[in-house]
Amino acid sequence: MHQPTFCAVAVALLSAFPGASAGMYTKKSPVLQVESKDYDQLITKSNYTSIVEFYAPWCGHCQNLKPAYEKAAKSLDGLAKVAAVNCDDEANKPLCGSMGVQGFPTLKIVRPKKGGGKPTVQDYQGQRTASAIVDAVVQQINNYVVKVEDKSLDKFLSDQESPKAILFTEKGTTSALLKSIAIDFAGVITIGQARNKEAKTVETFGVEEFPTLVLLPGGDAPAVVYDGELKKDPIVKFLSQAGEPNPDVPPKGDKKGDKSKKASDKASSKPTKSTSSEASSNTPEPEKETATQEAPVIVETALPIPTINTHEKLIKECLTEKSHTCVLAFVSDSTAEKSQRALDSLSQLAFKHAQSKRNLFPFYEVPQSNEGAASLLKTLDLVGDVEIVAINARRGWWRHYDAADFGHESIESWIDAIRMSEGIKKKLPDGIIAIAVEEPTSAPAADPTTEAKTEDEAAHDEL
Ligand SMILES: *[C@@H]1O[C@H](CO)[C@@H](O)[C@H](O)[C@H]1NC(C)=O
Repeated sequence: MHQPTFCAVAVALLSAFPGASAGMYTKKSPVLQVESKDYDQLITKSNYTSIVEFYAPWCGHCQNLKPAYEKAAKSLDGLAKVAAVNCDDEANKPLCGSMGVQGFPTLKIVRPKKGGGKPTVQDYQGQRTASAIVDAVVQQINNYVVKVEDKSLDKFLSDQESPKAILFTEKGTTSALLKSIAIDFAGVITIGQARNKEAKTVETFGVEEFPTLVLLPGGDAPAVVYDGELKKDPIVKFLSQAGEPNPDVPPKGDKKGDKSKKASDKASSKPTKSTSSEASSNTPEPEKETATQEAPVIVETALPIPTINTHEKLIKECLTEKSHTCVLAFVSDSTAEKSQRALDSLSQLAFKHAQSKRNLFPFYEVPQSNEGAASLLKTLDLVGDVEIVAINARRGWWRHYDAADFGHESIESWIDAIRMSEGIKKKLPDGIIAIAVEEPTSAPAADPTTEAKTEDEAAHDEL
């Protein structure tokens, strides 16, 4: 109770408020509302990491936390459980007491033990913002994803009967999304991740683009390459052809049917909203192409980026006083290896963002021979064969990609930094922005928070 942001009320005193009290979260809230009687089933026995808020509806700090907590719940949808227990409710008081709750709100992160047993419970004492909560919870998600390397490939494939899936990626880290998929299929499908530099592994499956997800259904069944959206629900549905995801506890609000549903409700997966019904997860995907083992179908995973060939177009798309962020790749010779690499990386990123239906700023290729490009580069003092910049004319800043490596990973982290509004912004020199004369300034004023918010929300569901 030393934290100034606690409602400093001992749980024992709460008996002064008799009876059940209305919870703080509405039925529609993305926050999972848990009562004492389903706490074990929903939280303790889950394979998913949870964060649980113990609160009282009358507590001002709890009310202040509500918007951030609901935002965190949305970001963590499908990845972890975001739950709340109303400690003002008579029935929940013993639970709140046994959890050592002494003030409100108290936030605890519950992390399941791999392979069963009691979960570990830690107090969350970080900042009460959505992004801090999301980051802390994501760090505690168990990782069942097997790293597949050339030297371990044979071992990974040795049990031919059991189904497996491999995500081929350029990333060295495992995303929360893939971890959550491995949790869904723990003990059913072994989920692996192979890096693009594992040449033998990549060649074995004929993978040419990253990321690519390959399912090995087991036995004699041929490998199947996933070609849907890089989102959790469709991926889970796709993998379900090789085995049912683990049953999770019944969805919230279904208290009566708990026991009977528990055994049969195979698809009520997972941390929050259930999307796939039993019927749909049993139905094979009709449109899925089944690849032969010799030549797996490799799907297109790059989206060619448009070229800006004229000065007028450059101004129109990116350099008016109303232009939003543009990423421009200025290339002197688009057939040169370095240019190819840079453009490939951007195309892959464009594809990835399009797949996840994310509103990302546009990428353009701009030949340096273009007169407008030449003068812009001169003003910005850029002389390389390949120069990538991000420009936001509306806000008057630009950023330079100054790494020597034009690989996917490196460019992606630069783009991510822009999305998260991190890193160095330089002021655009005068004279670059075209003032649109004829248009009245009826456009709504720029809301500096809008862009940052959507960028932030999108940051946690990448594969
Ligand atoms: C948890 O994972 C195990 C495999 O590790 C699985 O057998 C079990 O069904 C899972 N439980 C739930 C509730 O998903």
